[in-house]
Amino acid sequence: MQTTNWVPLFPDQASTFAWQVDYLYFYLILISIAFSVPIVVAIFVFVIKYRETEKFATPQEMHGSMVLETVWSIIPFVISMTIFLGGALIYFNQYTPPDDSMEIYVVGKQWMWKAQHQTGQREINELHVPVGRNIKLTMTTEDVLHSFYVPAFRTKADAVPGRYTYLWFNATKPGKYRLFCAEYCGLNHSGMGGWIYVMEQSDFDNWLSGNVSGQTPVEAGNDLFANKLGCASCHAGGPGQRGAKLENIFNTDVRLVGGAVVKADENYIRNSILNPSSQVVEGFQPIMTTFKGQVTEEQLNSLIAYIKSLSPNAATTTSPPANANNSESNKTVVKPAGNSNK
Ligand code: CUA
Repeated sequence: MQTTNWVPLFPDQASTFAWQVDYLYFYLILISIAFSVPIVVAIFVFVIKYRETEKFATPQEMHGSMVLETVWSIIPFVISMTIFLGGALIYFNQYTPPDDSMEIYVVGKQWMWKAQHQTGQREINELHVPVGRNIKLTMTTEDVLHSFYVPAFRTKADAVPGRYTYLWFNATKPGKYRLFCAEYCGLNHSGMGGWIYVMEQSDFDNWLSGNVSGQTPVEAGNDLFANKLGCASCHAGGPGQRGAKLENIFNTDVRLVGGAVVKADENYIRNSILNPSSQVVEGFQPIMTTFKGQVTEEQLNSLIAYIKSLSPNAATTTSPPANANNSESNKTVVKPAGNSNK
């Protein structure tokens, strides 16, 4: 299962950007060697060549050299710019999830990783994914900062309380790879880890069908929305509703009371549930009460999955919406409800 490493002590290269990170890293090591070796050699050469041969000798005065100074400015400039460009390209690639990614929710908690697939399967300290697919993790945590780190994929992203962060990868080799928490998070931080199982698509499909779970996130969200939390009593759409309409809002711009415009992404929806009076949609009254403390992180994920499912045309990622061409019809769809209860 584990393949041999081409450099000992290095983890497998098991994602599409593993080799990029490694090449940048070896480039940095090469530069360090290319500078350190001549410097150390020069120290020894000069110690011998310029040792004291005559007491109180006065050395020859030296004046600057334009050529020398230009050369030792341009070479480091070129070297540092190649490091910067290499790093920036890799970073941009790693933190821009592709639109066609398969989405998985991840919740960190002292001291475990909980994952939920779109098809409803839940896992703890394990994550099964198909090989060769773009996988996007939408992550948050129930308590403190954690960091989702898979060395073989050369990728890592913090899970931050109170907001969503994203990480994506495309695993290139079936196998079993270590998952770590890379942010000190308390007593059992060092034990907070698990395994990523990268499987052939057919094995993954078998795994999925062998792990039947109750509700998918969308179904669970729908249930919370319509029944358990009663969101539908204000947000079901239709005329005379007190709450903003939710159909087709995901990834569109929403105008707020006061004139600000925000993008209705996962973080916005989350904030609207937990802290509704902070971002009131234009034309509505701040009458919604907070659901802070009444919904778990997993329930929030489900609610967001449900609200996203009401926007079938929206891109799944937080990158610019795929429906930008018809965003005119989606923009600020909310109108005064004409029903001022308060
Ligand atoms: Cu979670 Cu360290």
